[in-house]
Amino acid sequence: MLSYRHAFHAGNHADVLKHIVLSLVIDYLKQKEKPFWYIDTHAGTGAYALDSLEAKKNTEYESGIARLLERRSALPEFTQSYFSVVDAINADELNGEGLKSYPGSPAFAAQLLREQDRLRLFEMHPQDSEILRSNFQRERRTVVAASDGFVGLKALLPPPSRRALVLIDPPYELKEDYARVVSVLEDALRRFATGTYMVWYPLLPRAEAARLPQQLAALAAPSLRIELRVNEPQGEFGMYGSGMFVINPPWLLRDQMKLLLPLLREIMGAPGRSDFVLEATGS
Ligand SMILES: C[S@@+](CC[C@H](N)C(=O)[O-])C[C@H]1O[C@@H](n2cnc3c(N)ncnc32)[C@H](O)[C@@H]1O
Repeated sequence: MLSYRHAFHAGNHADVLKHIVLSLVIDYLKQKEKPFWYIDTHAGTGAYALDSLEAKKNTEYESGIARLLERRSALPEFTQSYFSVVDAINADELNGEGLKSYPGSPAFAAQLLREQDRLRLFEMHPQDSEILRSNFQRERRTVVAASDGFVGLKALLPPPSRRALVLIDPPYELKEDYARVVSVLEDALRRFATGTYMVWYPLLPRAEAARLPQQLAALAAPSLRIELRVNEPQGEFGMYGSGMFVINPPWLLRDQMKLLLPLLREIMGAPGRSDFVLEATGS
């Protein structure tokens, strides 16, 4: 039973961190002509209207993308690709003014990938996979599967071009998601050790969440742990930040995040109660 709908959270601080890292990694992979595959095991719908009932419920985007756009001029040039996708999805709205929609990870990939690259998207929620399919029906490079991305990933590795970027972005509503992330990566690294893998995870006051980065670091592959804590832990369930764990990261990413994380904390974090982590292992 899937109850999570990403529309409630679109454009929040966690999406901003995730999608900036995603666009930086894509920019890096495009430095070589050779095609690569983008595999999104938990794709969502690909685009989110910020005036929908879901997005308006907690208006999470107001402390995420809305704040970032206000401070856009303070951000380094290398965030240009990220903003180009946010701009494009809003270009038809209000004559280009205002923030009406926020792109999902498949939209970032579709806009930033080249003709020779390929997208493979998995989304298991029946309604969201239908929306994803209709958003991408004219996208010739893309295949959408309404099935379990943890399972589907296996069959795609290694990809024909021997170059791939895999985003693993589960909702973690089911406790098993934590263990599945680790076991799917163990398997994926056996099949295709040189791929770039990115795992999103929440910062939550629960044991599985706290353990996950250590478990990922133990996978014996070069990695970069990137975390943005926007607040102090509050209560038993509240998400107080998020992380992106990148396996086989581009060499540039560490320096880029060193510059960016203090800015993201200042823009999206609660003053005096926010922090970040940037930690490389195994390189
Ligand atoms: C956090 S959202 C994805 C957001 C998206 N990656 C983005 O950045 O725009 C997680 C999605 O995974 C879907 N989902 C949950 N379990 C899944 C599974 N085992 N396989 C594929 N999709 C799954 C949920 O329905 C939800 O839409």
